Amino acid sequence: MAISLTDLMSMHEGLELSFQAFADLMMVLDAHGRVLEFRGRESGPYAFSNAILGKNIADVFPPLEVKKIERALAHVEKTGNVATFEYSLSQAGVEFWFDARLAPLSKTQFLLTARDITICRETESRLNRKMQQLSALRSLDLAIVSGLDLHLLLSMFLDQVSMLLHADATALLLLNPKTNLLEFVSGKGFYSNALQHTRLRLGESFAGKVALERRLTHIPDLSQHQTEFARSPYFAAERFVSYYGMPLIAKGTVLGVLEIFQRSPLDPDADWLNFLKMLAGQAAIAIDSATMFKELQISNLELNIAYDATIEGLSRALDLRDKETEEHTRRVTDIALKLADSLGVQDSERIHVRRGAILHDIGKVAIPDQILFKPGPLVEEEWTIMRRHPDIAVQLLSPVTYLAPALDIPHWHHERWDGTGYPDRLRGDAIPFTARLFAFADVYDALTSNRPYRSAWRKQEALEYIREQSGKHFDPDIVPVFLELVNAKSID
Ligand code: C2E
Ligand code: SIN
Ligand code: SIN
Ligand code: FE
Ligand code: FE
Repeated sequence: MAISLTDLMSMHEGLELSFQAFADLMMVLDAHGRVLEFRGRESGPYAFSNAILGKNIADVFPPLEVKKIERALAHVEKTGNVATFEYSLSQAGVEFWFDARLAPLSKTQFLLTARDITICRETESRLNRKMQQLSALRSLDLAIVSGLDLHLLLSMFLDQVSMLLHADATALLLLNPKTNLLEFVSGKGFYSNALQHTRLRLGESFAGKVALERRLTHIPDLSQHQTEFARSPYFAAERFVSYYGMPLIAKGTVLGVLEIFQRSPLDPDADWLNFLKMLAGQAAIAIDSATMFKELQISNLELNIAYDATIEGLSRALDLRDKETEEHTRRVTDIALKLADSLGVQDSERIHVRRGAILHDIGKVAIPDQILFKPGPLVEEEWTIMRRHPDIAVQLLSPVTYLAPALDIPHWHHERWDGTGYPDRLRGDAIPFTARLFAFADVYDALTSNRPYRSAWRKQEALEYIREQSGKHFDPDIVPVFLELVNAKSID
């Protein structure tokens, strides 16, 4: 007996609704793969029209996908079980991914449903790319604190720049403060070694101009600049087409120039440029602290200063995307330290509160823009990704030994006193004390700030919320101490 989709829909109340929510395509097929009925989105790249009715799937889908559906049909016919598989359709060079299921309706009829999972796929690969970039920054950081020789460090650094930015050749020149000349320190991907002897005055050639003008310089077509590299016949032999030069600046001083040479035209996206800036920032810190290591007898205090430069470098990775977080970070650190002082946190622990606060949301660097800056509420899938930011912070920071005691805040700042928080649903005293006190700083500052998803609450509303959430979100023993600090205008 044939069941039509309409019958099916009326048999199961709510099926129509769940179709709208869960399926982007629904088809009834016979055992030969003929389309008996279908429902689909009316528009979009994978919209089908009624013209496919009565046709075979072979006339509707590309051959590879037809194979998958046929295999599923054979499986369902034989076993009577549902088959699941993924397939992709591409349109105008864009690939769309679908999660499909095939279920038996009767002996001769089968229901194919498919859901568009393109966004999930994209988010996943974006997350992977971000993690890769982050681990590059991290290994650079590790190299800094381990006091590696600067030449080795910069050579490693260029390896990573070449790989992550897909650069044909990269070079690093450092400004020698005694001679005021830019000297070639390290290069990757060049055919000849001739450039190793490069010494440039400020303003001379590309790198000299970058250092003098202190800004990112892009030359899309090097052939328009013949005179610039006439000084070296070897340079012409490299057949470079385009160029990026980035000044390395730490504490307001130009330390050198990072250069990227491409043998083809280069048209990078915002992500690429941001990452280049981030890498240049890290390299500047590395060079600055390496020079510092050399020049100073390293005392414990000085080592801490170098550590803190590294932490600030890391947290800048987040600020680069969102000016607002820079302010948020400064304020929550301030509030958390005041609260820590009032609660009698020991001096030795104080530094870890400070570092933990600065890094608390570092895991958000792996959250895609369209989620982080979404102007409205998050849907479940987006929350799943957003809730990963504490664990990402741990993955990112745990190899850095001196940060181990500072990890409680990044790891558990979204736990709640009543056990409904994330990532571990810790409850009460099981939540580390510094994470419990930090939640006050984070939520209070978040509520009284404008967010992409809502505008700021008034101070009184935020305080009311904190009072109301005592014993729910917040440690009830800390609530009065926090309110007292606000009362006394110690916290604004
Ligand atoms: P965030 O904006 O820094 O907020 C930190 C925490 O402050 C939140 O953690 C939450 O506990 C509290 N909070 C902030 N705004 C509100 C609010 O309007 N009402 C209430 N009741 N509490 C608030 P939570 O909820 O785990 O969120 C973590 C992060 O997820 C947020 O950091 C933000 O980046 C993002 N997020 C949260 N809700 C939304 C949203 O509706 N849309 C978007 N695009 N992002 C959101
Ligand atoms: C170099 O790496 O020094 C050659 C490119 C330039 O003119 O700056
Ligand atoms: C939530 O915690 O699920 C939502 C946060 C908010 O109210 O913005
Ligand atoms: Fe957070
Ligand atoms: Fe925060």
